[in-house]
Amino acid sequence: MTLPRAAVHLRVMLKQLDQLESSGLRELESARDTDALEQWRITYLGSKGRLRAVMPLMKDVPREAKPRVGQRLNEVKQKLESAFEAKRAGRGGRSEGPVIDVTEPGLPLEEGRRHVLSRTIDEITEVFARMGFSVAEGPEVEDEWHNFNALNIPEDHPARDAIDNFYIERPALSIRDRSSSRNTQGRGRGRGLMLRSQTSTVQIRTMEKVQPPLKIISIGRVYRPDTHDATHFSMFHQVEGLYVDEHVSMVDLKSALFQFARAYFGPEAEVRMRPSYFPFTEPSAEVDMKMKVKGRWQWVELGGCGMVDPNVFEAVGYDPEKWTGYAFGLGIERIAMRRYGIADIRWLFENDARFLRQF
Ligand code: FA5
Repeated sequence: MTLPRAAVHLRVMLKQLDQLESSGLRELESARDTDALEQWRITYLGSKGRLRAVMPLMKDVPREAKPRVGQRLNEVKQKLESAFEAKRAGRGGRSEGPVIDVTEPGLPLEEGRRHVLSRTIDEITEVFARMGFSVAEGPEVEDEWHNFNALNIPEDHPARDAIDNFYIERPALSIRDRSSSRNTQGRGRGRGLMLRSQTSTVQIRTMEKVQPPLKIISIGRVYRPDTHDATHFSMFHQVEGLYVDEHVSMVDLKSALFQFARAYFGPEAEVRMRPSYFPFTEPSAEVDMKMKVKGRWQWVELGGCGMVDPNVFEAVGYDPEKWTGYAFGLGIERIAMRRYGIADIRWLFENDARFLRQF
């Protein structure tokens, strides 16, 4: 008995598809690594692969047999594709085990720490707090009144030059600004708003609000367009001190700085004052502290200081005949660099964890 033509085709095609399926699954099973898996994909599922090679044969299959063969072809295609996906995802390769080992210990999270400057600020605040200073604050975006005029720095003073300050274009005066006669006096002239160039601004802001006696420190960022080098940065921190009372003298100033130096740098630290000039203090001095730098004792300049100028008291409405006071301003980065042996100020702002982890 001869089989009809359609039946012959059907059998031949189905047999081919069965073989394709079983050899495909067998070879996939033995693919051991990513390269072998990729090679298998090209051989079976690729555009010139074995599955594609069977497809053109469909056109010779008689019409009656086409649905049955087509169905089986789809079945084989789906089986091979899903077996491949499962193996690739690490689920199918029984001999290899899962690609992700859920029993492996995770990566430990590293504990963070405070930045060396934040630590220095905390330490300095603590020392001055023990000496009876409370903490005052002021804004970083300042007006010229608080940064210059009230600090006895006149309009034509070179310290106000545009190349030495970060001025900000001034928005229209608010009604509140206009109603404050003292502030309008300072702001109406000059260039208006700026990033403060010194924390001495907080002296003025505090005295405008509080009646003497007062004893404050203020720590914060200040900004100057200085060229960056090992000891200069365009943003840095200062600690400002102000003590106003009756009969305050240079002796009080020197002993406060001396106490701070001993408490912070150790019992052998010393303080030296060199005559200098600041418009808001009279007399004025530079403050040097003697400290150990790489095992050797050295004098290091940390800031400026002096007795509050009577013009400053007048600007804030204090009676200069009654009140006396001292003020100082020290660079925090310079203190931290000395204390922790940091040779270059720029390292403090690069945020390189390898550097910061040391402190
Ligand atoms: C002042 O800023 C005065 N306001 C200090 C003062 C306060 C005097 C109260 C009298 C009374 P001076 O410009 O010298 O002074 O700056 C003080 C300190 O800030 C410097 O000694 C230095 O330690 C630090 N400093 C100044 N410029 C920079 C800079 N570009 N980068 C890092 N630190 C700086």
